[in-house]
Amino acid sequence: MKRILIVGSLGQLGSEIAISLRDIYGKEQVVLTDIRDDVNLALIESGPFYKLDCTDGPALASIVQRHAIDTIYHLAAILSATAEKNPQRAWHINMNGLLTTLEVAREYRCAVFTPSSIGAFGPSTPKLFTPQDTIQRPTSIYGVTKVAGELLCDYYYHKYDVDTRGVRFPGIISHMTKPGGGTTDYAVEIYYDALERHHYDCPLAPDTYLDMMYMPDAVKAAIQIMEADPAKLRHRNAFNVAAMSFCPEEQAAYIRTHIPDFTIGYQIDPLKQAIANSWPDSLEDYAARVEWGWKPTYDLASMTTDMLAKLRERMHGG
Ligand code: SER
Repeated sequence: MKRILIVGSLGQLGSEIAISLRDIYGKEQVVLTDIRDDVNLALIESGPFYKLDCTDGPALASIVQRHAIDTIYHLAAILSATAEKNPQRAWHINMNGLLTTLEVAREYRCAVFTPSSIGAFGPSTPKLFTPQDTIQRPTSIYGVTKVAGELLCDYYYHKYDVDTRGVRFPGIISHMTKPGGGTTDYAVEIYYDALERHHYDCPLAPDTYLDMMYMPDAVKAAIQIMEADPAKLRHRNAFNVAAMSFCPEEQAAYIRTHIPDFTIGYQIDPLKQAIANSWPDSLEDYAARVEWGWKPTYDLASMTTDMLAKLRERMHGG
């Protein structure tokens, strides 16, 4: 039986991975932690929860020991646009937070899942069907921490035999917890504004292509890779995973099939646009498919239908 701890369990990814893991393994087997304890009280109260600063090694170690944890999902991170406004803080949280988890994992023999990102690539990376193994010279501090994180996790595997695994997530679209401070947040916000105002002002240009994924696929990837047969994993910490690639103009067109009077305007945020321009348009994910059976379920059409239905339910008190 797995005994899992999540670092950063109240964020966009953590809050949904937590629910799925508790459904699969049981509530008492999945211990949640987060720097906050004043949001999502329903999740906090659904099983063991600790308020935790992800850079506090002794506090993390004592929870891991108390609950005999064998697997840690390390999801605490500052996203790309926020990171650019305070690079030193982003480095501290993203790197020292990860190092803290890896050290505790080394001491208590835990497996570790950490997400990397499309942000781990840069302007010199091939932009279309970006290969698994290619040039990684990111220009954002977020990307710098993601590449360093991939390498650090590989290092802990080779040096200390810590069972580290991870994927490079694209922008993640979800309706339960909003993302915060990412370049790809627009692709979530657009659905809220489409329903509330029938209009969205987009911070990225109409033809900015980026890889995206619907949350159920992201949760599936995070759980599936930790269940994968280690003998088949050649890459471990930085699997490209792709589901769909689109630009704001295309997303707006799909929304219009549900909300015909929906309009989109463009108020470019230069910081976000520069970050988006430095990232690939679309990733190639053959290694993940072959090594652990990755296969996404949702495309832009089915995601749009589901997102709008789920948000409508919520707005009407469902
Ligand atoms: N969604 C993230 C961001 O925009 C990318 O991994 O920062």
